[in-house]
Amino acid sequence: MHQFHYSGPDLHCESVDLAAVAKLYGTPTYVYSAGTMADNYRRLRQGFAALDPQVCYAVKANSNLAVLRHFANLGAGFDLVSGGEIRRVLAAGANLRTSVFAGVGKTEEEIRLALENGIFALHVESEPELARINHVAGQLGVQAPIAFRINPDVDAGTHAKITTGKADNKFGIPLRQATAAYEAAAKLKHIAIRGVQMHIGSQLTEAGPFAAATEKVGALAAQLKANHGITYFSIGGGLGIVYQDALASGAAAWWEALPPERRPLTPEAYGAALTPFLAPLGLKVLLEPGRFLTGNAGVLLARVEHLKRGAGRNFLIVDAAMNDLVRPAMYDSYHEIVPLHRDSSRRALVADIVGPVCETGDCFARDRSIQEVGEGELVALLSAGAYGFAMASRYNTRALPAEVLVQGSMFELVNARETFDRVIALEKIPAFLK
Ligand code: LLP
Repeated sequence: MHQFHYSGPDLHCESVDLAAVAKLYGTPTYVYSAGTMADNYRRLRQGFAALDPQVCYAVKANSNLAVLRHFANLGAGFDLVSGGEIRRVLAAGANLRTSVFAGVGKTEEEIRLALENGIFALHVESEPELARINHVAGQLGVQAPIAFRINPDVDAGTHAKITTGKADNKFGIPLRQATAAYEAAAKLKHIAIRGVQMHIGSQLTEAGPFAAATEKVGALAAQLKANHGITYFSIGGGLGIVYQDALASGAAAWWEALPPERRPLTPEAYGAALTPFLAPLGLKVLLEPGRFLTGNAGVLLARVEHLKRGAGRNFLIVDAAMNDLVRPAMYDSYHEIVPLHRDSSRRALVADIVGPVCETGDCFARDRSIQEVGEGELVALLSAGAYGFAMASRYNTRALPAEVLVQGSMFELVNARETFDRVIALEKIPAFLK
């Protein structure tokens, strides 16, 4: 559920008319609903209420400082994957006491930054990495709190580029090597064993793979609790969202109308499926959701440049492009696209909705049916709050888009549109070319 809806003919985010946001700040612009993020956070925690889990928001999904502050205010910790993300959380005014630091290639400098700022734990992906963490912790004269990321070899059944829990992915330690890895860690002077972690993939819409992985790693966790005194089990992120019927799925009625077996995984069903495996362990449970918290809480506003009527194909050319939202080009992902102003007297148009970047892949949707919209009119690409701005680039020397946060009837620019001067600020012509 989310808070993007038509009020009369006009698309709103909470109580804010999105056309007013576009008028003030231009396009392309990402708009986020703070209310939707808070609802998602509370629903997820509620789904696991029996376990009182610690939610560690996966910063990679949307790392705007305002978003981080919002989640910190709600009580979230963070799942971090770089020194840059650590600095962002600190810049947002939060601390690292309930945050974890993951990733297969942490540098010494990043490990130091995490330890100096009191990270809850480092999630370790290999034995060479463990040796590096032990070394840095020794230099600092501290013990580094760690958990190994275990690869349970479960097929998440999601897009190949976002599957992480299969044996042939680069992530984690194979289950059969886990006991030996923990025994090796126990011998290191500057390592403190704290927990166990897994993450099998992203955009999962069924409970089965989560349950299979939790059962497998849960059995290991019970042994590790007995042998090494671990205190927590992080089950990772991965809970999916609705892309296809994104607008309709904002309303509870859409979910209720679906027969339960056809309903995409809800946080309630996710919690209910995993709690029976987790509760008997008596361990603190960590969740690392990214997409579920922010994905349906954001849209990308774009303006129509032209409607180009081709021989066999229409092209709706908008001012947002693959550099602003790369998911369709990168994963063939679907984003619903709707007009900001609905007009029932207009005909429907079937078109490819594309950006101005010079690549055939710069296409948000093929053969999409949309109400006819003309030059200067506005559209919204839905479910763009996760892995949207966070993956944006400056390809074709297009400046990064603006970001706006809405709460109720209030809204504020939380990231100004980049200027050309900023884009080239660090570039220079070398003396030998002058
Ligand atoms: N924890 C770990 C260790 C992860 O690697 C990830 C995501 C998460 C948590 C959060 O997963 P989520 O709850 O958001 O599914 N750019 C892709 C998604 C990449 C996900 C990478 N890892 C996309 O746009 O679909």
